[in-house]
Amino acid sequence: MNALILLGSPRGRRSSSYHVAQHFINGLALAGCTTDEVLVRDCAINPCRGCFTCWLKTPGRCVHRDDMDMILPKIEKADLIVYAFPLYYFSMPGIVKNLIDRQLPLVRPELIERNGRTGHPSRNPDRKSRVFLIATAGFPERSHFDALVSTFEKSFGSEQAKFTGSILIGGAEPMHREEMQAAYTDLYTLVEKAGYEVGQKGNISEQTNRDIIRRTTFSAAALTQFHKIGNSYWKSFAPQENKKIQIPASAKILKLSDGGVKSFLAGMALRYNPGAVPGLEAGMQFLLDGSPYFLAVKDGECRAYAGRVENPTLTLTTDGQTWIDIGTRKLNGQQAVMEGKMKVDGELALLMKMGELFGGKKPAAQKPMEDANGRRGPLNIPGMLWMNIIFIPWMVKWIWGSLTATSEAFAAAAGIASLIFFYHLLTNRPTLFETGSAIYLIIAAGLKIGGIALYTQNTIFFDNLYLGALWLGSLMTTFTLTGEYSRSNLPKELWHTPVFLKTNQIICGVWGLYFLLCALFSFLSVNGLGEELYWRIGGYILLVPMFVFTAVFQNWYPKRLMTQGS
Ligand SMILES: Cc1cc2nc3c(=O)[nH]c(=O)nc-3n(C[C@H](O)[C@H](O)[C@H](O)COP(=O)(O)O)c2cc1C
Repeated sequence: MNALILLGSPRGRRSSSYHVAQHFINGLALAGCTTDEVLVRDCAINPCRGCFTCWLKTPGRCVHRDDMDMILPKIEKADLIVYAFPLYYFSMPGIVKNLIDRQLPLVRPELIERNGRTGHPSRNPDRKSRVFLIATAGFPERSHFDALVSTFEKSFGSEQAKFTGSILIGGAEPMHREEMQAAYTDLYTLVEKAGYEVGQKGNISEQTNRDIIRRTTFSAAALTQFHKIGNSYWKSFAPQENKKIQIPASAKILKLSDGGVKSFLAGMALRYNPGAVPGLEAGMQFLLDGSPYFLAVKDGECRAYAGRVENPTLTLTTDGQTWIDIGTRKLNGQQAVMEGKMKVDGELALLMKMGELFGGKKPAAQKPMEDANGRRGPLNIPGMLWMNIIFIPWMVKWIWGSLTATSEAFAAAAGIASLIFFYHLLTNRPTLFETGSAIYLIIAAGLKIGGIALYTQNTIFFDNLYLGALWLGSLMTTFTLTGEYSRSNLPKELWHTPVFLKTNQIICGVWGLYFLLCALFSFLSVNGLGEELYWRIGGYILLVPMFVFTAVFQNWYPKRLMTQGS
C-alpha cells in the first residue's frame, strides 16, 4: 500500500499531531506500506480563487503554480491519505483547508447524485483511495471533533477518496512537548497498532479503536485535574497584570563570589533567558538545606536573593546539592520529586519551564561589553584582540631582528609599541602589558643602537626573562595581565568574581613560567649548551600545548568552579 501523510500542524514537527502521526507511520511501515510525508507548513499553497479555471479553461489544472503541483500527483497516486492536524475552531487549520480546497481540479463540474446528495464525479474513476484522519485538540471532550468528523465524512464520501477512520485525541496540548513524550508511551503503542492494522486491512480494528477511545477519554476526576493544570500553565505564562513581585527590603542580593549554593543561584540568575517566557513575572522560592533564597523574575531580568519572597509562584524544598545536581542536569527534576528528594509547591508549570528559562541560551548580560572597559576606542577593536596586537612589536623584533640583526628592527618594534601605548593613553588607558612592552622595547632599541654587548648578545634571553617577570609580576595586580583583556568579554558585575580572577591567575602564571623556561633555553644555548636554533625551536614547539591549554582551560575551569561553588 502506498500511503501519503499530510502533516498539517502550523507548528510543524514540534506538534502533538506530528508526534501521533509518526507512531501511526511506524505502524504503516511495519505493515509493509511505503510512506510519503508532506509537512504542509513548509509548502507554498495559495488559497483557491474560486475561478473554476480548473474546470472550464484548463480542465484538471489550476491557475496557481505552487506546491500543489507536487502534492496533487501524490494524492492521485496514494492508496491511503492520512491527514494529521490539530483542531482549530472545531475544524482544521487554514493551511490544511487550503490544501483541501485546492483539490478541486481532481473532480469534474458535472452534478451527480451520490448517497442521496448531489456531488461531483472524480476525473479519474479508477482512483481508489482511503482517507484517514488523525486530529488532536486542546479541549478534552471528544464531542469537540464532531463537526470536523462530519466535514470529513462529507468531503471524502466518494469511492475515489473515502473517509474510513480516525484517531481523535483531546486534551493533547502537552503532547507537543519533547519532554512529555514518555507520558504517552501506552497511547503511542496503540496508535502504532492502529497504523499497522490500517496498513494491513485498510482500517483500525474495533478493539484498537475502543482502546484508543478509552485511553483518551477523561474521567470526571481527570477533567478536574486537567482544568487545574491547564489554568496553572496559562496563568504562569500569560502576561500577568495582577501578580507583581515584591522584593522585601531585607532580601540580600546573591553574588557569584558567595560560594556554594548561593553562587549557583547567582549563576542561574545570570543565565536567565527572558525570551523563554516573554513578560514573565515570578518569584521562585528555594528552601535549600533549611535556608531561604529566591529568584525574582521581573521586567525581563532575574536576580538571586537570600531571604523570602511574598506569595512565591513556586517553592522548591530540597538540599543544596540536589538542586545543583538538577541544575547541572546530573539529576532529573521529576525523578527527584518522585524519589522524595525535592518538594514542589505552587505552579508546576514553571518548574517544567526551568530548563528553557535558565538552561541553554546565553543571557543578554553576557553579551560582549568591551565598551564598559573602554578598550575599543575609535578603532573599534574588541578588548581581547588588543592582547594579540601588542605582540606585534615583539614579533617584529624577534623575526626581523633575528634575520637581519639590524638596529632598524629594534627601532621599528619600539615605534610600534609606542604607537599602541599612546593610542590607549589618548583613548582609554594602557594596560600593564602595553606600558611594559613600550618601555622595554624603547630601552632595548637604545641598547641595540648603543651597541651594548651584554644586551645585544643575549637579546632573546633578556626578552623572555622580562616577559616572564612581567606576566608573573602581574599576579600581584587585581586583574593580572590576561584579566585586563579578558574582562572586556564580561559584564562588569563579574569582573571581581573568584571564578574570573582565579582562572586568569592560573593562565597568567602558566604563561609567566613558559617565558622563564624560554629564557632558560636561551641562556643555555648562548652559554654553549647546544645550537641556539634548537633551543629557539623548542620554545616555539612548546607554544602549541600552551595555546591548547589556554583555549581549553578558560572554558573548562570556570564551569568546574561554578558547579562546585567557588
Ligand atoms: C487558532 C486555534 C484554534 C483552536 N481551536 C481549538 C478548538 O476549537 N478546540 C480545541 O479543543 N482546541 C483548539 N485549539 C487548540 C489546539 O487544537 C491544540 O493546541 C492542539 O493540541 C495543537 O496541536 P498541534 O500541536 O498538533 O498543533 C486551537 C488552537 C489554535 C491555535
